[in-house]
Order: sequence, then C-alpha cells, then structure tokens
Amino acid sequence: MDRDLSEIILSEEQIAQKVREAAAWLDERFKKESVPPLAVGVLKGCVFFFCDLVRAMQTPVQIEFMTASSYGNSSKSSGAPEIVTDLAASVQGRDVILIEDIVDSGYTLVRLKDLILGRGAKSFTAVTLFDKPARRKLPVRADFSCFEIGDEFIVGYGLDYAQQYRDLPYAGILKREIYEKNNA
Ligand code: PRP
Repeated sequence: MDRDLSEIILSEEQIAQKVREAAAWLDERFKKESVPPLAVGVLKGCVFFFCDLVRAMQTPVQIEFMTASSYGNSSKSSGAPEIVTDLAASVQGRDVILIEDIVDSGYTLVRLKDLILGRGAKSFTAVTLFDKPARRKLPVRADFSCFEIGDEFIVGYGLDYAQQYRDLPYAGILKREIYEKNNA
C-alpha cells in the first residue's frame, strides 16, 4: 500500500467486479438502440474507470472526452466548474453516457447535464464510480453509482490529491495529515 494512505477501501478485484455490473446495467439500458451511445469521459479522474467500463460493455459505443475542473489543489469545490476542454463531437440527437469518477457537491454533474441536454442530446445517463452524498450541495444523483462513500478523502484508480495518486490501481483513504498539511 502507498505509504500516504491510511487504508485501502477497494481492491482491484472489487473495482473490477463493480465495473462489470455497471457495464451490464448500461448494456441492458441501451440494448434496443441502433445508434451507438456516445460515452463521454470527464477527465482526468475518470480515465481508468472509463477505459475499463467501455471495454466491459457489449454495446458498441463511441468515445469522447471533456475536461472539467473545479478543485485545483483544494479539497473544496469552487462551485463553478470550468470547462477546460470541450467535446470535439456534437451530441445533437445522441444518447450520451457521462462517465465520472466522483459526484461530490454535484456542481459538475448539474453543469454538464445542462450543457449536454442544452445541446440537443437525445438522452443523458450519468455513471459514477464514487458517490459522496454527504457533500452534496445540489439535489442530483448519477443514474448508476458504483460505490457510495462517506466523507473521506479517496485517492487512486484515477482520483487525485494535487495530481498525485491517480495511478494507484486500487482506491484508498488519504492520510489526513497529507492534505491538512497543505491546506493549513
Ligand atoms: C472532480 C471529479 C468530478 C468533480 C466532482 O474533478 O472528477 O468531475 O470533481 O465534484 P463535484 O460534484 O463537487 O462537482 P476535478 O475538478 O477534481 O478534476 P479531475 O477529474 O481532473 O481530478
């Protein structure tokens, strides 16, 4: 285990099992569609979850990415997620599957849902690896959440603290002294 973590909460195997469940749920939801859904990854946190999820699906999908950022190096959302890199493709008339690593305050999900539906998407489905309802500021939920977590600082499998720990293949709780030291 990385020495900066106090605990591993999800092993690679536990994540892989849940990714298969999420993929099966999406397959069922889109089995009657003749046009492939557009899987939109919200970088950077989604990156490993996104790749594992779309490859676990039987349904063919097209893939696109956007970058949204509201945290910088802080643990508190700015409340106004910035679209750092927009989609390269039109979502007009498409079934969009938004793939997130975490829904925290909910600001990002609300912003991206409004943006995508406002551009004429046929449908919007949000899938998140983690849901942290204790921190919610807006009444929103992903359509499929893999893991509901408490108010711990989770890193690994794409999630970062100050751009570190994303590359861990498992997810764990960051030691409090690591982020309190820097936010003091
Ligand atoms: C994280 C995460 C979500 C968002 C969720 O992104 O990937 O997009 O925050 O938080 P919210 O529900 O409070 O809006 P972040 O800005 O940290 O960028 P990253 O994906 O590059 O880590």
